[in-house]
Amino acid sequence: MDLYPAATVNTSSTLHRTWDPERVLASADACLALRELGRHLDEANFINRFGRLQIDDTANQSLADLALGKYIDVSSASNFFGGPQTTEALLGTKAATITSEGRLSLSFEVLSDGKAMAILPFLDSADDVPVDSVYAGTDSWLLRDQAWKYALRGQRAIDLGTGTGLVAAFLTSRYETVLATDINQRATSTAQLSRELLPESAKSRMHVVANDVAGGLRPGTFDFVCVNAPWVPTHRANDRTYSHGGETGFELPRRFISEGAELLAPDGILVALCAELAFSDGTNPLAELLNEFERRGFTTLIEPTPVSHPFHYAADGTAKTLSGVVSARHVSVILKRNRH
Ligand SMILES: C[S@@+](CC[C@H](N)C(=O)[O-])C[C@H]1O[C@@H](n2cnc3c(N)ncnc32)[C@H](O)[C@@H]1O
Repeated sequence: MDLYPAATVNTSSTLHRTWDPERVLASADACLALRELGRHLDEANFINRFGRLQIDDTANQSLADLALGKYIDVSSASNFFGGPQTTEALLGTKAATITSEGRLSLSFEVLSDGKAMAILPFLDSADDVPVDSVYAGTDSWLLRDQAWKYALRGQRAIDLGTGTGLVAAFLTSRYETVLATDINQRATSTAQLSRELLPESAKSRMHVVANDVAGGLRPGTFDFVCVNAPWVPTHRANDRTYSHGGETGFELPRRFISEGAELLAPDGILVALCAELAFSDGTNPLAELLNEFERRGFTTLIEPTPVSHPFHYAADGTAKTLSGVVSARHVSVILKRNRH
């Protein structure tokens, strides 16, 4: 199973869409267009959690269509981008395309929960997904919901492997400083653009940096750490950075959880999504890792994620195709560093 949900892949267009976030970032006018778009979406209370579109005013239907990557009349689009100059700039960076009939569409979809917004670029092809594609899926919303539950305000939060930057953007409503990191430069550049959609107060709290897991970050300095880790085993991951979790699929989640836990300040909480694997020899690497943290005085919890989403099928597939694995399930790991 491919972990990129079909709903996010727009292959119907005959135009070749090339997502080049660096080019957009380099254009001040294109960034201004995104800021204007974000402002309009915020005012219209646009909400789009994959297939659950909500906009509180039907007069704003063309704005919603634009944000979903559909074609709308270029003159309406221009109003949402702040005028012809910024619209042209966006077109010049290929973040938007226009037909000979004057219909414009974006090369991305805007994800929004009404608080946070992020840019999810469309793929050029559903069959040929590049290894450095920027990912968002049902699990992104699961992580956002866990953040809603466990991220209870504080000074500093970090979203490791941020992808589009959606969850980091959400965390700006609870934390003074939010770091969004990723090893994939296309992801960090896209998250920088997602930042442009946010109101100034949220934007100034969010910082995006390229990084390998938690490398180089000061231990003990974050009140909240979260990650939606890649957990697909090598033989099924097609080398895609967003899904490849190592030989069994637990190698990279182990690093994220171990290095992420070291970042926690006293009373800090880590939330990680990954798969829990049980092997025929009775071993369970996730349970063993959490036992180690319990021995060190952390409180830990494994919550199975809700059953009605595609990752359980993917987990079943992992259990069936990975030698020695008797079961796999998609879970949320919660870890708290207790004060001594
Ligand atoms: C399943 S995606 C989740 C993206 C985003 N957090 C979300 O929930 O929508 C996993 C993310 O981890 C990133 N990643 C993979 N290996 C990494 C590493 N060694 N260090 C940092 N990020 C990494 C990928 O580029 C990808 O953006």
